[in-house]
Parts: sequence; C-alpha cells; structure tokens
Amino acid sequence: MVSQNQIDDALNGLTTVKVQFDEGIAWVSLNRPDKRNAMSPTLNREMLQVLEALEFDDRCGVVVLTGEGDSFSAGMDLKEYFRETDNAPALIKAQIRRAAGAWQWRKLRFYAKPTIAMVNGWCFGGAFTPLIACDLAVAADEATFGLSEINWGIIPAGNVTKAVSQVCGERAALYYIMSGEPFGGQKAREIGLVNESVPLAALRERTRELAKTLLGKNPTVLRQAKHALRRVEPMDWDLSEEYLAAKAEQTAAIDPEKGRTKGMKQFLDDKTIRPGLEGYRRGE
Ligand code: COA
Repeated sequence: MVSQNQIDDALNGLTTVKVQFDEGIAWVSLNRPDKRNAMSPTLNREMLQVLEALEFDDRCGVVVLTGEGDSFSAGMDLKEYFRETDNAPALIKAQIRRAAGAWQWRKLRFYAKPTIAMVNGWCFGGAFTPLIACDLAVAADEATFGLSEINWGIIPAGNVTKAVSQVCGERAALYYIMSGEPFGGQKAREIGLVNESVPLAALRERTRELAKTLLGKNPTVLRQAKHALRRVEPMDWDLSEEYLAAKAEQTAAIDPEKGRTKGMKQFLDDKTIRPGLEGYRRGE
C-alpha cells in the first residue's frame, strides 16, 4: 500500500513535470517549455515517479499526458539524453535508456488507469512512444508531428518504430520514417496515430469530455479490458480465447462494484438500461 504522504512526496519538488488535479483528471504536463519539452534523463525519472504515484492517488481516475507551452514534446533531448551520455560507460548508458523506456512504454502500456495523450503542439521522434503507449490520443489540428530521426542521422529507436508499427499501416509508417516529413493533426488521425484531431481552441475541452466518459465507466473493467487488448495482440486465436475467458472470470471475481451482476440485473430484471446505448448505473 502506498500512503498519501508517499504520494505527496513523489509529486512535490518536480522540476520537469507538472501535475494538476481537476475532478478526477490528473493533467500531467511535460514541463520544459523552453526546450520544447524534450525528454531528458531527469524528466524520464520524474515521469516514472509521477506515474507510479498517480496509480495509487484517489484524486486521479484518468491521466491526461500533455506538454506545457506550445509543444507536446520535441522528443528525446539531443543534448542531455544523447550527446552528454555518448561517452558514458555502457552500463550507465543502458541505465539511462532503461529509465526512458520505463515510463514511455513499459509503465504506460499496462497502466492501472486510463490514459489520454493530448497533443497540443510539436511532437517529434521519441515523443511518439509515450503518445502511442497512451490508451487514447487527441491532437490539435495545428499540432506538428514528425519522425525526424532520418533528418539527423539515426533510425527511430527508443521503441518508436515498434510503437508506430502498432498503430499505423506499413505504408504510412514507412513514408514518415523514410521521408521525415512533418504532418498535422488531421493527418495523424487519418493514419491512426491519434483517435481524433480538433482545433487547438477546442482541444482541452474535448479531452476533458473524453476523460469524463472514461470516469463514468467501471475502473476495474476498464483496466482489465485495455490490458487484455494489449496482451492478446501477439497470441494466436486459441490461446487468446483461453486467456480472455480466464481474464473475464478474473474480472468478475475482483470487481468490487460487481458490475456484471449489476448490469445484468438492470437490463434483465429492472429493465432500466439498454447496454447497447448506455452503461449500468453505478452505485444503484
Ligand atoms: N533536444 C534538446 N533540445 C531541444 C530539442 C531536443 N529534441 N528540441 C528543441 N530543443 C531546444 C533547442 O535546442 C532550443 O534550446 P536553446 O534555446 O537553449 O537554444 C530550444 O529547445 C528551442 O528550440 P528551437 O529550435 O529554437 O525552437 P523552434 O520553436 O524554432 O522549433 C522544433 C521547435 C521542435 C521544430 C525544433 O526545436 C526541432 O526541430 N527540435 C528537434 C526535434 C527532433 O528532431 N526531435 C527528435 C528527437 S528523438
């Protein structure tokens, strides 16, 4: 169990990440606007700390990951993450790389709470990994995305290539990996990188609306459902069926709301809901 004191300690004194709570939503901002929120080793350490704390923080039902100022993130920090560690011992380099992956995909892909990436501006290279590792993503039409690695002589590593292959078709993935061409929010939606793109002026409100929808769902079932989607991806159909049956039973067993029983009762007995169109009434 993590105490509120431990959570507060983790969230106090951050220098590169900002956390604000608002009606169940934790707005987590990468906070180095002067450096276009480039992800430095310090930011990577703080992000893991923040995400670990928020999993246990009752003020957070949904995490929105965004960037301070006019950037989502300009990717890995070319100075602090790359150049300054070029000559570090191999073990130190490996440790720094592990710390980046620790939050950018390992933690986020199987996070205990729903996550939404809100892409408010520049989004380049390494930033694609946490963007794609979030469950949902909303962009501003005005945002600028780019797999810029080709423009400065590296391949999209840091699991960017793997992440892109997960959500974009091969044609689009290769086009942007090989050309390095920047693109906007609507194109990001078209190629599957984000769920939707809206004008910047409407971005926060639309993201809040989406977060509220998720906050209205059963949190245990949400967690089990999203983990299941990611777990079955590499399985064959037989294994997947077995896994999902077990996961469904586990979900019913561990759900403190007893959502399945409640949903059945409200539909079959009380006739108060139509699950095709609306959720069961929590708390009833
Ligand atoms: N790493 C380290 N620093 C970065 C950075 C990065 N990825 N992206 C931007 N910065 C820094 C710049 O060095 C500059 O720092 P300075 O003020 O100390 O000189 C500051 O952020 C502002 O950058 P600037 O280029 O002047 O801002 P801009 O608004 O004109 O352009 C970008 C913004 C994002 C288009 C441009 O900074 C850029 O191309 N960044 C690199 C993006 C990239 O290829 N990322 C992939 C890394 S995996």
